Parts: sequence; structure tokens; C-alpha cells
Amino acid sequence: MINKTKPAGTAKLEINGTTYDLPILSGSLGPDVIDVKKLYGQAGVFTLDPGFTSTASCESQITFIDGDEGILLHRGYPIDELADQSGYLEVCYLLLNGKLPTQTEFKSFAKEVTQHTLLHTQMDRFFDGFRRDSHPMAMLTGTVGALSAFYPSSMDSSDPEERRLASIRLIAKMPTLAARIYKYAVGQPFVNPRNDLSYAENFLRMCFSVPAEEYKISPTLAKAMDRFFILHADHEQNASTSTVRLAGSSGAHPYAAIAAGVASLWGPSHGGANEACLNMLQEIGSVDRIPEFIARAKDKDDPFRLMGFGHRVYKNYDPRAKVMQQTAHEVLDELGVRDTPILKVAMELEKIALEDDYFIEKKLYPNVDFYSGIILDAMGFPTEMFTVLFALARTVGWVSQLNEMIEDPTQRIGRPRQIYTGEAKRSFVPVNQRG
Ligand code: CMC
Repeated sequence: MINKTKPAGTAKLEINGTTYDLPILSGSLGPDVIDVKKLYGQAGVFTLDPGFTSTASCESQITFIDGDEGILLHRGYPIDELADQSGYLEVCYLLLNGKLPTQTEFKSFAKEVTQHTLLHTQMDRFFDGFRRDSHPMAMLTGTVGALSAFYPSSMDSSDPEERRLASIRLIAKMPTLAARIYKYAVGQPFVNPRNDLSYAENFLRMCFSVPAEEYKISPTLAKAMDRFFILHADHEQNASTSTVRLAGSSGAHPYAAIAAGVASLWGPSHGGANEACLNMLQEIGSVDRIPEFIARAKDKDDPFRLMGFGHRVYKNYDPRAKVMQQTAHEVLDELGVRDTPILKVAMELEKIALEDDYFIEKKLYPNVDFYSGIILDAMGFPTEMFTVLFALARTVGWVSQLNEMIEDPTQRIGRPRQIYTGEAKRSFVPVNQRG
């Protein structure tokens, strides 16, 4: 149950000689907040913070980030411990339910997810409507939204059982959808899920097996895939999660709200950065060209940015990037492609950027996308699929945050305000009288 903030004092705001008292609230970790809910009612002014740089949009108990220290906790558990000792489905349970499962709870959760992996056969007909060269994120946005047509009862999000079922179905069906998107793009037959495999194994098999031969799943690659999913499972109130919350706050169908999150994730400033980062590493191509790209990233007149560097919240090494780096080495060792030009460029670029004054001053460290693209590329995923894999993994975060919002008794439709700077009121002039 949320609504657990504690009073932590009073802020005084003076506006043109009148002082207003604003409550200060404390959470369990992180900075206090000034509660401005009543400010407009009392003082007739709004606050302005377009990129939400200083504004908490909700109370949440799911994920905590300390960007200065490079800390990421899910329900209190550090991300590196989860990545080392847990598995993706267990992290899903944790995010959704707020606690780690007992063995019995986990067995029944995993069984339920496994049994919901099939898609309605009508869903396959949607794919025929897409061009073969459609961007996979375009197909994902469309097909996740289309799923809402198959589960009309999920619209009743006031029913906890409907919410639970929608969460299970979304987590279960995303890999099947993502794999079909990949297969459609490469022109191979769809592969159906198999219930005797783990979540990650099943996904790899649905992507890379062909009917003509047996597919041997590499435990190292399955582990790396699972880690990738864990590291992308949730990240508090980022753009796509906030989009899901805002879309869902109107009472929209949960699958439609998740489709809105997929759309928001697509952009290169957010989930699309892994695709953009690999493209950039390929464009750099060799270590001797790195200084040229570093100079471009520092040039104010050049819009180029070093993809995979910087983060709105982390002003320290992204804790997910550390685990990704280690996983990248494991995957490349397993595949025997240790000394690829891309990895060489990535390692050298990271070293140079971390020693460069511009990056040090602006606290620009590698983020999760810096190494994830290298892993996915080595596994055989085309660059355009990278953000789809991020969306697959983030689905549990989106549904957990959506459910938390719906369960909050104080929840209202999200409705930001604005400062209007357009024309003041003026009279309409018919077209034949305009000069
Ligand atoms: N390369 C060069 N300069 C940069 C970079 C970069 N990657 N990132 C930020 N800066 C500079 C920026 O030019 C600005 O300089 P100045 O103060 O002189 O104007 C300063 O650093 C602050 O940047 P900002 O754009 O105001 O910071 P932000 O918090 O709005 O943006 C960001 C965060 C992630 C969008 C940005 O760092 C970026 O574009 N990074 C590259 C894209 C990327 O890797 N995104 C993945 C984010 S992690 C995955 C996810 O959460 O989806």
C-alpha cells in the first residue's frame, strides 16, 4: 500500500509579499519533496518544470535510484545482487509483488507465465499487414496495442484479478511477439514457445531456431539474455514509464497503456540508444578514429552525442553498465569473437571518455546501452531489434508501475498545466475580410 510519506517540515514560499507554507515530505530514501499540490488553490500560481528535472510525479515503492552514488535498488535489493543471484522471472515476481517469492510461490508464478506464452492465432495475421522492412519497434507498438482487442475484460482495471492476469499475460506474450517480429523481418517461419524451457531459453529458441535443424541453446547466451532482461526490468519514472502511467491514468486499457510506453521507449534518447550506440561504434570503426568522434561530441555546434554516455539521473557509472560490461566479455568469449573491432573501439572509447575533462566535468559516464548493443549484436540480433528486447524486459516494470498507480487510492488522471505564451483573446475575421 502506498501513501507512506512522512512529514519533514515546512517550506516557506513568498510570492509578492505573501508567504505560503508548503509541506516537506520524506520518503524512505532519496531527497525530500516539497508538496505543491495545494499551491494553485492557495496562491493561484503553477510551478514550471518541463523536463521534470526537479519534480516527483508520484509516490512509488518499486525502484530507487541514487544517481550520484550509482545505486539502483528494486524493492530494496541492489541490481548487481539481483543480476548475480536471481533470475528474470524472480525479479518480475519481486517487482510485481514487492517481495521475493517462496519456492512454491515462484513455481506457481513461473508455471502461470509459461502457460500464457501463446498468442491468439488471429494475432499472426497482423504481421502480414506490415512491410517486411518495417522497423521492429513500429511492429511492436502496433501489435502490443492490438493485443488489447483480445482481452476486453482487462479494461476493468479496478478488479485485482484482471490486473494480475493482464500482468502475467503481458510478461508471457512479449517474448513470443518480439520473436515473431524478428522472424517476420528475416522471412523465417514463426516458432512457437516451448513450456519445458526457461524464459530466456524459450525466447532465444523462438528467435534463432529453424524447422530444418535442432537448435542447441548455449547456457552462457541464455544467462546473458536473462541478465539483459534483469538489467532492463525497471528504472523508476523514466520517459516510457511515465508515459504508461499517464496513459493509464485515464483508465485506458492496460495493453494500450503499455503500447504507449513502447512508443516512448523507441526514441534514441531513451531505449533507442542501444541501437544508436552500436551504429555509432560501427561508424567509428577503428580505434584511431575515436579522437575525431570525441571532438565532435564536445563541439557545441555539432549535434552529435556519444551514444551510450550520460544519463538524466546517473551522474556516476550506471551500475547496470558494470554488469553489462562483464556479461559482454562472457558472451564474446563463449562465441570466440573476443577481439572484434567493435569491442576494441568500445573499450578504448570508454577509457578515453572517462579521462577526458569534458566528460568528467559533465559527469558523463557509460550507461546501460553502451555494452548491451555489443552483447545483442554478438548473439545475432539485428541492430533494429535491440529496442524491442529492451521493451520486452521493461514490460514488467511498466505493468508494476501501472498497477501501483491504479492501486493508489489518491490516484487521479494525470493532467499537467502550462504557462501560456500564445496570443491573448482576439476576434475572428472572416477570410474575405483578411488583408
Ligand atoms: N555526449 C556528449 N555530450 C553530452 C552527452 C553525450 N552523450 N550527454 C549529455 N551531454 C552534454 C550536453 O550537451 C549538455 O552540455 P551543456 O551543459 O554544455 O549544454 C550536458 O551534457 C547535459 O546534457 P543534457 O542533454 O542536458 O542532459 P539530459 O539529462 O537532458 O540528457 C541523456 C540525458 C541520456 C538524454 C543524454 O545524456 C544523451 O543524449 N545521451 C546519449 C543517449 C543515450 O545514451 N541515452 C541512453 C540513456 S540510458 C537508457 C535509458 O534510460 O533509456
